[in-house]
Amino acid sequence: MARKKIVIANWKSYPATKRDALKLFTAAKKSAARARNVTTVVCPPVIFLPLFTARRKLFLGSQNVSGEGGVAHTGEVSASMLVPFQVAYVIVGHSERRALGEDEAMVAKKIRSALAEGLQPILCIGEAERDTEGAYHEILRQEIRSALVGLSSAEIRRVLIAYEPIWAIGKSAADAMKPEEVHEAVIFIRKTLTEIIDRSIAERVPILYGGSVESDNVASLYTYGDVDGFLVGHASTDAKSFNEILESVSNA
Ligand code: 13P
Repeated sequence: MARKKIVIANWKSYPATKRDALKLFTAAKKSAARARNVTTVVCPPVIFLPLFTARRKLFLGSQNVSGEGGVAHTGEVSASMLVPFQVAYVIVGHSERRALGEDEAMVAKKIRSALAEGLQPILCIGEAERDTEGAYHEILRQEIRSALVGLSSAEIRRVLIAYEPIWAIGKSAADAMKPEEVHEAVIFIRKTLTEIIDRSIAERVPILYGGSVESDNVASLYTYGDVDGFLVGHASTDAKSFNEILESVSNA
């Protein structure tokens, strides 16, 4: 079944200035408009969100959301605050946030907060290292189950999964996962989803790959990795690289 292609830019804590953020967004907008059959999502630092306007094929996402109700949570931004700023997606459980102490219970709460406000959560999962016995499978299964068990089918249909092995993040294309390794992980993730929901729904949950996606490896990862798209870190903060990535996915 042909699925919709999606490319998500995670700018992380970049750029340093409003001026550079506007420049980068303007470039992403042009690239997104040119890419055929690709949905593009830009997730800037939350402070820049009010500067940007979503377009057809170009959506805005937040890199985080509060999982707590109520107002006594210093420094947190709730899902309902994001909605008026045209935010449609939210990254949840990124490994860089899990490293700061975000645990599975918090991730599950964030997913629910996002869904309750009509945002689409991008659930990040991924093992810290690869072992030869395949123990990383259990880590992936646990991260999926702890976040999604208990949600309705209608809710799970609105979730995207980003497989981001921690060991492959922040390197170069040469150190990223090989397409066949990504393919194997995608099969495992879909199988795990069928333990929670009907196969017909599990098959429709978009599965993205993230971890040193660059213009050099994106085409083969798309073609042989069986992914629906990508969550791109450092290469999304370079206008030329991001344009090349969108072009490759568009042509793949
Ligand atoms: P890099 O593309 O810089 O490896 O980052 C991946 C990532 O963490 C995206 O969320």
